Amino acid sequence: MICENENKLNPKFESIKINGRCSLQGRIKISGAKNSALVLLAASLLTKDNVYLKNVPDLSDIRKMKNILKSIGVKIDDKDREKILINSGNLHFGNIAHNLVNEIRASFFCIGPLLSKLGQASLALPGGCNIGERRIEEHLKGLQQLGATIEEKDGFVNARINNNKKRLKGTHIRLGCPSVGATETLIMAAVLAEGKTIISNAAREPEIQDLCEMLNKMGAKITKAGTSEVCIEGVNYLNGCSHEVIPDRIEAGTFLIAAAATLSCITISPVIPSHLNSLLQKLKESGSDISIKDDAISIKTETIKGVNIETAPFPGFPTDLQAPFTALMLKATGKSIIKETIFENRMNHIDLLNKMGASIKLENNIATVSGVKKLSGRNLKGSDLRSTAAIVIAALTADNSSLIEGLEHLDRGYEDFEFKLKKLGANIKRDLTENIADTSHKQNFFTSDAQNFYAA
Ligand code: EPU
Repeated sequence: MICENENKLNPKFESIKINGRCSLQGRIKISGAKNSALVLLAASLLTKDNVYLKNVPDLSDIRKMKNILKSIGVKIDDKDREKILINSGNLHFGNIAHNLVNEIRASFFCIGPLLSKLGQASLALPGGCNIGERRIEEHLKGLQQLGATIEEKDGFVNARINNNKKRLKGTHIRLGCPSVGATETLIMAAVLAEGKTIISNAAREPEIQDLCEMLNKMGAKITKAGTSEVCIEGVNYLNGCSHEVIPDRIEAGTFLIAAAATLSCITISPVIPSHLNSLLQKLKESGSDISIKDDAISIKTETIKGVNIETAPFPGFPTDLQAPFTALMLKATGKSIIKETIFENRMNHIDLLNKMGASIKLENNIATVSGVKKLSGRNLKGSDLRSTAAIVIAALTADNSSLIEGLEHLDRGYEDFEFKLKKLGANIKRDLTENIADTSHKQNFFTSDAQNFYAA
């Protein structure tokens, strides 16, 4: 992947070329969940012992998180890709800088374990990002209720435990909204607190259940994980463990949607089918045949009917699949209404999809999609992780080729995305190309589709 600084020196960007009218078939393996692996890496700060994590996906977000942990004394041995070793025996206090926290926002979730392990933590205040404001007041209010002193100064959040025992104290916290990150931060802070903590209005996402399962293996006493009221009985000490990251439900969902959009038949595994219920229901409503056998899901699609979705916290329809699902609706018969309710700015794909010939009207985070007969390949640049996945899906169904940039977003969250699509039969190739935006005046080097590529 090429980072921004390198781009300034070198006008070459990675892009993928996709030939449209694609049909997929076969079987692919789903990787470990990015959002689980990130929080499990943070949770490994809670013990001096070795933590072994299996099924950690090789993604740029994960690599960045590992580097942040290394910067505060954590040893990580990832030579064996099957099982990485994390040891936080030499964890030390350090400011986690602004550029790091903003590069990978999940690093802010380290505040909980750092505070309960070291008695203090200092992390740069994360700003908003290209999908929304990404507020953190629920993390901070909850930590204060557990007895931490929080000060915001010079762009940093400085958290400290001021009592003699340097230990947080269990309490009843009611979250103002079921934030995934705040629930995770507060669980990780409360596991080593004195006494019992109850988190009400907690998020119920599977990644939180995965976190609690690992913490319980380490000796924590957490019950009712996966419900909106999580109970944590504080313990004095946590030991090491070995844990396997759950399969990535968002990656799984993206491939099912890609198969449906291309009227294909594929099988994905391993998955935990119950994590995908809301998507599977919508795929069935829109005309796909779904069959589940143990940890595998097969999909076969011959027609696509317009259906409506509204994103919601788990077990509702995941915001992370809203953009890919919108791409599925582009060629559906009839209208569909797609409502984003979790993030303020998660409709970045709409303009891009309209450039491909889609018919989408957007008002107040509600997209009304009128199905069209054909889409045209274009040169496009994704601007966030899931919107880039959405334009890849649309490109697979287009009448001709597309050239897609913004792979730094895709590489944050999809392991071997184009290799997996290729394995399913897609005509897709990653290459080093000139920046699309900078070369719009030049002749296209993919000569067969020259007009298309620079028409966007
Ligand atoms: N919110 C507040 N106050 C807070 C915390 C959150 O108002 O104190 C708001 C946010 O501004 C946002 C909404 O609540 O509008 C949801 O935020 P949440 O805290 O639940 O999300 P997150 O923890 O920041 C995680 C995932 C996201 C995923 C969301 C929702 C990780 C690392 N990230 O973010 O994943 O979309 O939960 O399910 O776990 C992705 O993978 O593409 C991604 C963005």
